[in-house]
Amino acid sequence: MSKSSRPLDPESKPDDRVDNALRPQKLDDLIGQDQVKENLSILIDAARGRSEALDHVLFYGPPGLGKTTLAHVLGNEMGVNVKVTAGPAIERAGDLAAILTNLRAGDVIFIDEIHRLGRAVEEVLYPAMEDFSLDIVIGKGPSARSIRLKLPKFTVVGATTRLALVTAPLRARFGAVYRLDYYDLEAMKKIITRAAGMLKVEADKEGIVEMARRARGTPRIALRLLRRVRDYAQVRANGIITQKVAREALDLLQVDPLGLDDVDRRVLKTIIEKYSGGPVGLNTIAASISEEQDTIMDVVEPYLLQLGFLDRTPQGRVATKSAYEHLGYTYTEQGQQRLL
Ligand SMILES: Nc1ncnc2c1ncn2[C@@H]1O[C@H](COP(=O)(O)OP(=O)(O)O)[C@@H](O)[C@H]1O
Ligand SMILES: [Mg+2]
Repeated sequence: MSKSSRPLDPESKPDDRVDNALRPQKLDDLIGQDQVKENLSILIDAARGRSEALDHVLFYGPPGLGKTTLAHVLGNEMGVNVKVTAGPAIERAGDLAAILTNLRAGDVIFIDEIHRLGRAVEEVLYPAMEDFSLDIVIGKGPSARSIRLKLPKFTVVGATTRLALVTAPLRARFGAVYRLDYYDLEAMKKIITRAAGMLKVEADKEGIVEMARRARGTPRIALRLLRRVRDYAQVRANGIITQKVAREALDLLQVDPLGLDDVDRRVLKTIIEKYSGGPVGLNTIAASISEEQDTIMDVVEPYLLQLGFLDRTPQGRVATKSAYEHLGYTYTEQGQQRLL
């Protein structure tokens, strides 16, 4: 297919484009995460004051909370380029060397899913982050020798959903490590209000609250729900998102009042119905509902833990009393259950 016949960038789905357009550009545009923001502003001001590159920063937390956004915000605030890559994309040490030798002083290299970097690549990254130097072996066999290249001072911004999988030596090379948490209702309301304004979607206060409540504290989900509710409002109502419209649309999408979706419910129901409330191992749950373990660990569990619907014990996952009640089961200490 010739380039000109492509309607638009095929890699970029409409939803992604909307997300990118809505991405806050500066620290002040970011809603919520106040503590992270304050810490970052100090980091930025200090680096600027000394005319230095920003210290290496690692963000971790569930998907959709703003890690990628923050990496770009850091670049914008420092007025530098952001080179975007990801752990699995850097296959060989040479790939990383190619990126690093193309950076300019102060530039940011954003490494998403940094826990998925290969060993050999990590070994190259250590001295690069620490001493801004790159050891390159040239030649083969007995005549091979190693030369050390000096790199400009740059900043690694790493992101991961799994801090536990980031190796200790790599973690130690970050000057700042921040955890992103789920957003509270106030922040979610602001994020949706801002997005609705930018997308020119008409929504009243109650409609926004309804979407904010069901977006599981996650901006990416909030934006997705907003788009779907907008569709519903356009097709089934007069285009205005009211509480009624939001409720109908979200019920239809099977997003419940606490933001649980179909996968969340299937995880809990499996634990309750098939395993008497648990404990049951993650791999067993994943197999029972045919979902990836990674999805359950990264996306489902953090939110269920936060709601207090799930406990993690050394023996496995356990559904709590609140989970039983939310899903309409009777809870008994023995873990016997019965549908109400
Ligand atoms: N603090 C925030 N304020 C407003 N919008 C945000 C915020 N954090 C994230 N978003 C929006 O949510 C979307 C997902 O954020 P992203 O940075 O891609 O998450 P992550 O990289 O953690 O998966 C972005 O498109 C952005 O528009
Ligand atoms: Mg991201």
